[in-house]
Amino acid sequence: MKKIAILNGPNLNLLGVREPGIYGSQSFEEYFEVLKKIFPNIELTYFQSNIEGELVSKIQEIGFDYDGIVMNPAAYTHTSVAIRDAISAVKTPVVEVHISNISKREAFRHHSYVSAVAVGTIAGLGMKGYELAIRYFVD
Ligand code: DQA
Repeated sequence: MKKIAILNGPNLNLLGVREPGIYGSQSFEEYFEVLKKIFPNIELTYFQSNIEGELVSKIQEIGFDYDGIVMNPAAYTHTSVAIRDAISAVKTPVVEVHISNISKREAFRHHSYVSAVAVGTIAGLGMKGYELAIRYFVD
């Protein structure tokens, strides 16, 4: 069974409550149940943290073992050299996901430190982006 982890960065624990006009009204916990039903033959795990170092440690912990990481680094996308370096240090490929289309939003969201070390990036497709990223690893 393939092992795929979803890692969500800061404030994504508030999905469903936080700016629903941008991020939708579903919590990630609810959506994760949907994902598990879509991919019954994949070992899916989910980790969220508001703390940069915890995300770095999680990438290091699973990054030599898992088949894929689907990561939404949230605000750390635009600031974190440490997360970028962790992704390039490990073996497991990472697909970067953003719920909103960061290119259409404020200028400070246009640059991602992660994109250059990710296999690819999905942005602007809402929660569906996570499903599509998992599908990339499954296929
Ligand atoms: C986000 C976009 C980021 O700019 C923002 O800081 C987030 C969420 C997204 O999923 O659209 O927290 O990564």
